[in-house]
Amino acid sequence: MTSRRWALAILGVALLVIFLGATGCVGTKREAPPPPKDAALQAVPQFQLDVLPAFNQFCVKCHSQSDSHAGLRLDSHAQLMKGSSRGPVVIPGDPGNSILMRALRQEPPFAMPFHGQKLPPNRIANIERWIAQGAGNN
Ligand code: HEC
Repeated sequence: MTSRRWALAILGVALLVIFLGATGCVGTKREAPPPPKDAALQAVPQFQLDVLPAFNQFCVKCHSQSDSHAGLRLDSHAQLMKGSSRGPVVIPGDPGNSILMRALRQEPPFAMPFHGQKLPPNRIANIERWIAQGAGNN
């Protein structure tokens, strides 16, 4: 090969690298998408700080005094512990058997929020650990 051919070959490779870089195939680092809005994972979740605000944001429009679907109100600790017209939804110390957790994980038969998007994972995790730690009015 002549040196002129070498020069053309190198130029070709250089152009290819620039092209791939510009199209985002190699080299260019793209910004990671912003993390979903979520609550901090709490070591000791509290009803007032970690559970009630989530209910207020996502649930009380259908589960409060004015509108209590399935007879369930989620606007206070006392109301939550009363459960629904079908019975308790929280079993202190036992999130696995608490209907509330099934609903939040959107497992059958209830997917809550009703016809809505699942809560952010840390919110669900905080509520789960709050139940595991006794579901107190803390
Ligand atoms: C748009 C209205 C709506 C929203 C918002 C909503 N729910 Fe419900 N919820 C319902 C309806 C309706 C039912 C009854 C479903 C049925 O019987 O098939 C229900 C039932 C439930 C049940 C089952 C009660 C039982 O013992 O049978 C739980 C638990 C529950 N909701 C929790 C929640 C939680 C937690 C949220 C917020 C994350 C929430 N819901 C948000 C309408 C709603």
